[in-house]
Amino acid sequence: MIFGKKNQLVGLDIGSRTIKVAEAVETKSGWAVRKFGSIDIAPGLIEEGVIKDGPAVAEAIRELFHLYNIRQHNVAISIGGYSVIVKNITVQQMPEDQLYDSLHFEAEQYIPFDINDVNLDFQVLGENEQNPNQMNVLLVAAKKEMVNDYVNIIDMAGLNLCIIDIDAFALQNIYELNYTSGGENIALIDIGAGKTSLNILKDNVSVFMRDVSLGCNQINHKIVSMANCSMAEAEDLKLAENPDKITTGDLEEAVSSVVSDWCNEIRRALDFFYSTNPEDQIKHIMLSGGGANIKQFRDLLAVQTAAEVRSINPFEVFEVKNSHLDPAYLQQIAPQVAICMGLAIRRVDDK
Ligand SMILES: Nc1ncnc2c1ncn2[C@@H]1O[C@H](COP(=O)(O)OP(=O)(O)OP(=O)(O)O)[C@@H](O)[C@H]1O
Ligand SMILES: [Mg+2]
Repeated sequence: MIFGKKNQLVGLDIGSRTIKVAEAVETKSGWAVRKFGSIDIAPGLIEEGVIKDGPAVAEAIRELFHLYNIRQHNVAISIGGYSVIVKNITVQQMPEDQLYDSLHFEAEQYIPFDINDVNLDFQVLGENEQNPNQMNVLLVAAKKEMVNDYVNIIDMAGLNLCIIDIDAFALQNIYELNYTSGGENIALIDIGAGKTSLNILKDNVSVFMRDVSLGCNQINHKIVSMANCSMAEAEDLKLAENPDKITTGDLEEAVSSVVSDWCNEIRRALDFFYSTNPEDQIKHIMLSGGGANIKQFRDLLAVQTAAEVRSINPFEVFEVKNSHLDPAYLQQIAPQVAICMGLAIRRVDDK
């Protein structure tokens, strides 16, 4: 039996390389995946989370729903990249209905954009431990123009947009559903094609979130200049067993210089955490997104951070309830589907 059927939606992760859709249901015996599908899109339609060609993306979403026979039209999507800012801030205690106006006024100091250009949202996390007259608030700001573009493509695709989540939150939600951290500090890092989302959890609470403009496309750019080819060709060369047009040595060099950049950037973020939490050690890093598939990256990151580095399996506690879904395929694509599954477990009336 399926509970809360009217509440159902599908998770739609609009990646700049691969758009993914998943339907998850909660049954008496636990969570199950009912549908999953993905479609690759051409380079350049989305860049660092910003839609560059809305009609083409909408068309790809339509095709994805058609290909995988997804009849559920309620969707949860997420946004991320440099146009989205998430910050833990401390403000004077006040009733929630006053908070919005006050934040609108105060947010300017936390956000590098004009306050009139952003949509603001917040969640009260509770009383501040050091000062009971203050409270901790999670502030989320996203550029209006970017949010509107997503609203428009969902509309163009003929779907019903129920939730706009944030990549890093979706990642945290799917991690928490599948794993217990045992109170250890953990970094969740999603490295996609064009953006990277980083979320550090301490005592199961997010203490640091940042999106940066890193991604697997950087490798493609290197290949383009080495092999003098198009971005689409570079993507094929990168994943080919025996690439022509580029030597394996050059390919390895492209990968290793990019992953070493990623490790430096991640270490900078971890150092920021250590500067305010000097006693705490981040012992575990959970990777997701296509970048998690790169062994060289996982190995280098483990050495440079002295942490255990693993790829997330968003299906850990899920049963597969669809005979057309190949469990081996799902395991192979698992890290890339983390955000999508984090969206698929949301429900229409969630806050
Ligand atoms: N085994 C692999 N080796 C190298 N790169 C890989 C591998 N598997 C996937 N990738 C890369 O991962 C990227 C796709 O990952 P993902 O699906 O997480 O990105 P996305 O969600 O479409 O992008 P974004 O979230 O940044 O907009 C592609 O650039 C792809 O080339
Ligand atoms: Mg992605």
